[in-house]
Amino acid sequence: MRETDLDGVLAIEEASFPVPWSRESFRFEMHENPYAWNVVVKTSGLVVGFACLWALDEELKINNIAIHPDWRGRGLGTRLLRWILDFGRSEGCAEATLEVRPSNEVARTLYRRHGFEEVGRRKGYYRDTHEDAILMTAKLAPEGDGA
Ligand SMILES: CC(C)(COP(=O)(O)OP(=O)(O)OC[C@H]1O[C@@H](n2cnc3c(N)ncnc32)[C@H](O)[C@@H]1OP(=O)(O)O)[C@@H](O)C(=O)NCCC(=O)NCCS
Repeated sequence: MRETDLDGVLAIEEASFPVPWSRESFRFEMHENPYAWNVVVKTSGLVVGFACLWALDEELKINNIAIHPDWRGRGLGTRLLRWILDFGRSEGCAEATLEVRPSNEVARTLYRRHGFEEVGRRKGYYRDTHEDAILMTAKLAPEGDGA
């Protein structure tokens, strides 16, 4: 993710989440957070998806992931998630973690298909609806063990 990607990233963020991250939040992650890795998915130079990650020792935290509404349902989210999990392995992370809304069936199904399991809840986590957050984790097998 580069400065020149930010307009595209923000358009996706704002179309995807009721309480979107600001440009400043993305810029903090890009330029100031030493644990952050921010990636975009591009098609013909157009930003169609992105993810914001933290690699914290053994944990890969997926903080933000979205595909542009016009590009959903074409396998890009699956490919992005696979890339993220491979990236976590290559960084030596033992597990990936994330939070998801109970109402987000598409995302929860996608995560379950990639080995994520529900391990807990954060009560009233989301500021807009006061929904709980479901905590999910996936074990990341080390590279080269055939998993
Ligand atoms: C979650 C998200 C990233 C998935 O991206 P995507 O590019 O649509 O994902 P894919 O095309 O790879 O589809 C993943 C699975 O969801 C299914 N799916 C996609 N859109 C769907 C829909 N509207 N209804 C039901 N199932 C759907 C696909 O069929 C696929 O299942 P399959 O593996 O059985 O084929 C995307 O929906 C998104 O950006 N959502 C808004 C942001 C968000 O909720 N992020 C997650 C926050 S935790």
